[in-house]
Amino acid sequence: MELLDGKATSAAIKKEIAAEVEKIVAAGGKRPHLAAILVGHDGGSETYVANKVKSCGECGFKSTLIRFESDVTEEELLAKVDELNHDEDVDGFIVQLPLPEHIDAEKVIEAIDYHKDVDGFHPINVGRMGIGLPCFVSATPNGILELLKHYNIETQGKKCVVLGRSNIVGKPMAILMMQKHYPGDATVTILHSHSKNITEECRQADILIVAMGKPGYVKADMVKPGAVVIDVGTTRVPDATKKSGFRLSGDVKFDEVAPKCSYISPVPGGVGPMTICSLMKNTLSAAKKEFYK
Ligand code: GUN
Repeated sequence: MELLDGKATSAAIKKEIAAEVEKIVAAGGKRPHLAAILVGHDGGSETYVANKVKSCGECGFKSTLIRFESDVTEEELLAKVDELNHDEDVDGFIVQLPLPEHIDAEKVIEAIDYHKDVDGFHPINVGRMGIGLPCFVSATPNGILELLKHYNIETQGKKCVVLGRSNIVGKPMAILMMQKHYPGDATVTILHSHSKNITEECRQADILIVAMGKPGYVKADMVKPGAVVIDVGTTRVPDATKKSGFRLSGDVKFDEVAPKCSYISPVPGGVGPMTICSLMKNTLSAAKKEFYK
């Protein structure tokens, strides 16, 4: 069994990004600039956004964090999105999800100029991704593809099972794994809360990607010997031995599943760092106007 080390892989990719940024700046170009909007004080979102801002520093990007209290109105938030759409210094920006219930997240996402949508959540980017056109691909599935590439994991003709059908991970992941090039060309099955025979389906997977948000859901009897297992889960569970009072739990029972795998991603240190690294790549692409003129 080999660990898919997202922490080391993302550190190596961020170094490459930083080197490219310094070349751009040395040639008289502008430093890439990512802005992030954070609403409220959800612990998970605070951590994710802090890590995104930190990664911007590591990549040599400028970053701007814009905070709103959770009672911000939809109108105020949309006004900020509009301002960022027109801010020539900002290459890309994200609105951290989830948003408070009184705000229509879809409306906010659709208000983002798709040229600056480095999260790849805008319907134009999602649609272009679906038909294989250049676009911003959402960071978690793209980070998983990077990890598969980094470890030269064969995907062509493999049976890939995706557990979970969210717009952010499950659906785009399934589409990307079936694209007509590496790391795709897989035969993909999506399973979700209404699927039948989940254990049997999972047991056929050469590549099992788990994004359900259910700690410890995947057990050893659900995994084929030699499978590649990617764990996207990051649920905070209480842990009195930790200073923070919690630890991050994946969707896979790592201790019993790992010995059966050819490769497995740990939590933390697997998909999480790759997600942030993909956001950095998208921001660099936005600054270089790589996908859209
Ligand atoms: N919440 C959970 N994952 C993400 C992400 O990739 N981007 C944003 N904006 N919010 C998230």
